[in-house]
Amino acid sequence: MQFKFSDGKELRKHWMLAEDMHFLNHGSFGATPRVVLQAQQRFRDRLELQPVDFLVRQAPAELRAAAGELAEFLGARGEDLAFVENATAGVNAVLRSYPWQAGDELLLSAHAYPAVKQLARFVAHQCHIVIREFDFAFPLQEGEILERFTAAVTPATRMAIIDHVSSPLAILYPLQEMLAVCRAKGIRTLVDGAHVPGMLPLEIPALGVDWYVGNCHKWLFAPKGCAFLWAAPNARDFLQPPVVSLRMEEGFPATFDWVGTRDPSAWLSISAAIAFYREMGGPDIPAYLHQTLLEACQLLQDAWQVESPAAPQQLGTMATLPLPLSGEATLERANQIRDQLWREHRIEVPLFALKDRLWIRISAQLYNVMDDYRALAVAVQHLPGYQA
Ligand SMILES: Cc1ncc(COP(=O)(O)O)c(C=O)c1O
Repeated sequence: MQFKFSDGKELRKHWMLAEDMHFLNHGSFGATPRVVLQAQQRFRDRLELQPVDFLVRQAPAELRAAAGELAEFLGARGEDLAFVENATAGVNAVLRSYPWQAGDELLLSAHAYPAVKQLARFVAHQCHIVIREFDFAFPLQEGEILERFTAAVTPATRMAIIDHVSSPLAILYPLQEMLAVCRAKGIRTLVDGAHVPGMLPLEIPALGVDWYVGNCHKWLFAPKGCAFLWAAPNARDFLQPPVVSLRMEEGFPATFDWVGTRDPSAWLSISAAIAFYREMGGPDIPAYLHQTLLEACQLLQDAWQVESPAAPQQLGTMATLPLPLSGEATLERANQIRDQLWREHRIEVPLFALKDRLWIRISAQLYNVMDDYRALAVAVQHLPGYQA
């Protein structure tokens, strides 16, 4: 099939997404194309046809082949990559099995994903380490992220968690520069790339990181529960999945391949997801979605008379814009407006409260058309407290 970028409405048929809605939140959980779900169902059918034969004799080798295929897509080797259920599990694996010394410092952004911050707190308590957060202004000030990050490094900094793409800010961190700081100081690096596979071109080994965690169920079209942990050869001896299990002594990645009985169909479907991604445009997708996003941002900025908090080169396929609403900026109100947009306008889009403002994060996926963003522009103009 020849892919036509210009026809988002036609492309939407590849997804099960309800037709009578504007789905502007691909970022939260992705949306899995029909062909990938069908491939997943075929794996489930095989599993149920003969559970023991499938799980014991067939799936292990197929799982490693799938890891190899995903690794190749990421410029990596299969033996350096383990499947995990989600980014949360991948970050858990690293933080909870790293051989911390009491007093070590873990450096992360004040805007790190909330689940990652919770986990850091948990590990700090268990292992007697110190969490150091660096913060920065949003709207972004040029060079500030790197400056604040560098200033937060101390002689005790043992590991840094660096978001590749931030949620909820939807910005790209200056990853190369931050990694260079860590290399110069001998700091271990864990990159949280929850949004990155499929959103940005990605060659993991070339980054020079210790660990890279990525979701395939967001922008790479895999079924939910398909994510990975990549580990550099010198950063894996101690690695165990969050659920320590049968193959504990076999080392990475084998120890991750069996963590009790479960359905491996999401992982095995990665081949179908990558095939769909390639069919839809492969390496051309990130630039196309980025362009769609910029057009959408311009439309909303013109309609609401707001400024973008980030430059175009700091965005991938999502953007967070200020909402032109007066009144209190609380998470409760953000959620209430989110639900109101869904109930009254059939628009699904996430909102956040940050630094005394309400913000809205839009995504651009192949099935989106400008009418989706136009609908959002108008719906917001009808909200109580709207002021352009
Ligand atoms: C930066 C970041 N890290 C981690 C996660 C957690 O991903 P998951 O829910 O798939 O574990 C997300 C989810 O959006 C994220 O944006």
